[in-house]
Amino acid sequence: MISPQEKGALEAGWYVDRKIYTSDEIVQKEKERIFYKTWQFACLTSEIKNPGDYFSLKIIDQPIIIIRGNDNKLRAFYNACTHRGAVLNNRPCGNEKVFQCIYHAWTFNLKGDLIGVPYEKAYGPDFDKKKLALVPVRVDTFHDLVFITLNPNAPSLIEYLGEVAPHLAKYVQGIEVIGRNSWTYEGNWKLWHENFRDNYHPAFTHRGFQDSIPHYAQRGGNWGFEPGHSMLQWIYGNHDGESFFKGMQRYSNIEFPKGDKIICEDPTPSEILAVFPNLDFQPGQQRDLGGGKMGTRDGFIQTAYPLGPNKARIDLVVYSSTDDDPETRQAALENKAGYIGSWGKTSADDTEAMARCQIGLHSLGTQFTPFARGIAPGKGGSTEEGIDGRDEYSLREYYRVYKQYLDREEPVAAAAE
Ligand code: FES
Ligand SMILES: [Fe+2]
Repeated sequence: MISPQEKGALEAGWYVDRKIYTSDEIVQKEKERIFYKTWQFACLTSEIKNPGDYFSLKIIDQPIIIIRGNDNKLRAFYNACTHRGAVLNNRPCGNEKVFQCIYHAWTFNLKGDLIGVPYEKAYGPDFDKKKLALVPVRVDTFHDLVFITLNPNAPSLIEYLGEVAPHLAKYVQGIEVIGRNSWTYEGNWKLWHENFRDNYHPAFTHRGFQDSIPHYAQRGGNWGFEPGHSMLQWIYGNHDGESFFKGMQRYSNIEFPKGDKIICEDPTPSEILAVFPNLDFQPGQQRDLGGGKMGTRDGFIQTAYPLGPNKARIDLVVYSSTDDDPETRQAALENKAGYIGSWGKTSADDTEAMARCQIGLHSLGTQFTPFARGIAPGKGGSTEEGIDGRDEYSLREYYRVYKQYLDREEPVAAAAE
């Protein structure tokens, strides 16, 4: 237990009170003060590229629909009929000329205007369809990514992305979705997001990594980017071929021919970019295949949502380059399926760790969780020696901003102009 004097450290995110993982009251606050207030990743532009294309999603309990209009503009609305509230369209995506409610057949065009009301005369001469248009929410794109926010007062998307924007921009131009997967686990949603800002655990939780490429996370960094975002980097390069094959053999049970060696000299860091509060972006490394050919720029995007304090849903999107051929896409999908998603080995390890944490976080024995790794000043350690991928700068930046949102009292939500 930390002393009362040390409790000031809670302000800076060095320690957090464990009730943020277990309390019903906190998860309700998170919904209203974080999820209703921040920009949320929705889909890729390639999923709604033609007039009439739509994509629907839920921000916790708020059904949203994003529609591309005949003018090619993207618009987003609460996906709720303005008559009695029926969800207007309950399919995940598709193409429509108009949206007609199944209940009393009120009909809306692609701009959200109410254009058809059966037996309208009974409402009298003052009935104004304009006042009953679908209620808009803000939508914006960052290159190929589409985000929405329920908060009319949120900063612009580019301002919100802040310091992570130039890093993200490198990866999100010319990509499209090749697979999706969602799953739930018995643990708080923040544990999953924390886990993708944490390079301290893989050597132990995902033992195969450590066996194959010992101490790889040491060669990297962990930066907190304002406001609340992060970049985690590590370098697999320059590992010893023999220990790699030994590790792979233990991990896969595949016998590698003796004498085979690889020395990987690639110094390019691998990265995970995280966007506050719940988005992780893990691009694959683009490889030079020789002969002027470059490999795919595949990767995956994950969002974590609370289903109460003790349960979370993860939505996974796997993408690859728009110019990849079908074989390359298939290979990218199979590669991801091997380690990520509800079927992946790495995700299975992490899910077990999350479930165990959630049980222990209810323990009365310990009140606080430390995020104190890496003590050099700055956003990721101020000296070369101080930089280590296992540091926790980004987690402290996360909880600094998390606290700001949670402490802020504002109206819950309102429609965008
Ligand atoms: S609820 Fe949609 S038309 Fe009645
Ligand atoms: Fe992990």
